[in-house]
Amino acid sequence: MAIGTRLLRTFIICSTFFLLILFFLPNQRRGIPQSLLPYEGSGQSLQHLLHLPSFGAVNQIPVIGFGTSRADKSATRRAVLAALRAGYRHIDAAAAYGNEKEVGNAIAASSVPRPEIWITSKLWNTEHAPDRVRPAIEKTLKDLGTDQLDLYLMHWPIAFTPSNSFFSTSTPSINTSASILETWRAMEDLVRANLTRFIGVSNFAKHEMETLLQNAEIRPFAHEFEIHPYLSQKDFVGWNQQQKINVIAYSPLGNMNPAYDSPDVTPLLKEQRIIDRAAIREATAAQIVLSWAIRRGTIIIPKSTHEHRIRENLGALYTSMSGQDLTVIDLLDKKLRLNNPGKEWGVELFSDLDGATKKE
Ligand code: A2P
Repeated sequence: MAIGTRLLRTFIICSTFFLLILFFLPNQRRGIPQSLLPYEGSGQSLQHLLHLPSFGAVNQIPVIGFGTSRADKSATRRAVLAALRAGYRHIDAAAAYGNEKEVGNAIAASSVPRPEIWITSKLWNTEHAPDRVRPAIEKTLKDLGTDQLDLYLMHWPIAFTPSNSFFSTSTPSINTSASILETWRAMEDLVRANLTRFIGVSNFAKHEMETLLQNAEIRPFAHEFEIHPYLSQKDFVGWNQQQKINVIAYSPLGNMNPAYDSPDVTPLLKEQRIIDRAAIREATAAQIVLSWAIRRGTIIIPKSTHEHRIRENLGALYTSMSGQDLTVIDLLDKKLRLNNPGKEWGVELFSDLDGATKKE
């Protein structure tokens, strides 16, 4: 046999063997128990398996995280523990949610080694003054029971005067002379002090991002903002991604969160076009919506206090979607912004983005 033919045959055998190993690599190695795969053997492609977060190494942010906003203290511990047991390895917390101690308790109770979990938290608006930034993260670290975060975000581009009590519900007094850049510089020092591996922002308008990018010594690793099919923000998502900033979508299930007041809008998971896609894909409506978000390259942090939904949402990793599915969901965009406290705070937020409301 000619040497060329023999070489070709060896190459084909080796690459087939390699592909087989990749395909049958036990899912436990990837951090998700076998029993949780809702569509095991039903057409999931290698492409989908590659969407799995890199548990263990944690150099890459896992594409699905567990949200903890507005979850009351007693529900938080239970839900975070259920999420970790179900296979989530990314927890999205914030000092302003008032439940970081419960999140920390759940992480400790889960026995999942700390290096295997990606933990994000956020600096609240009362703590923007540069000399308050380090004490703020130190409190968060203590509450979460860790000595380093993976990601620390500036929660809003707005500084309150520190005299506002942390969880006050009354109209805050805004510190108009505060500078986002000064706060960012203090956050850069947190990376240098090894208190967090990465820093980023949340709820920024485009012009605020541009100012930050022009001046930052450490570029933002991620930008977390509201994204779902009713507020898809295609251009802004793409713009952040072009800047090599990871986009984290909060409230990826849109108005399913009862905290959002949208009485005239169909609950997202009752939207007929989503239900139709779910039937075609043999998935649930939530899995379709979350899978759409993953396929756009965004990281999602759905919250639920119900164990069956916590597991259901994780199944979005294995929901297959066609280009047509994605297009149909893209068409649902209503530029419906559900979380805009600008009016309440007397400031203009998201001024150059979809669904902005002007200051009166
Ligand atoms: P619940 O906790 O009762 O499950 P967020 O916007 O913070 O991510 O919250 C998502 C909201 O959507 C929560 O109110 C949660 O309610 C609800 N939810 C989460 N997962 C599902 C699901 N799979 N099906 C229906 N509702 C869900």
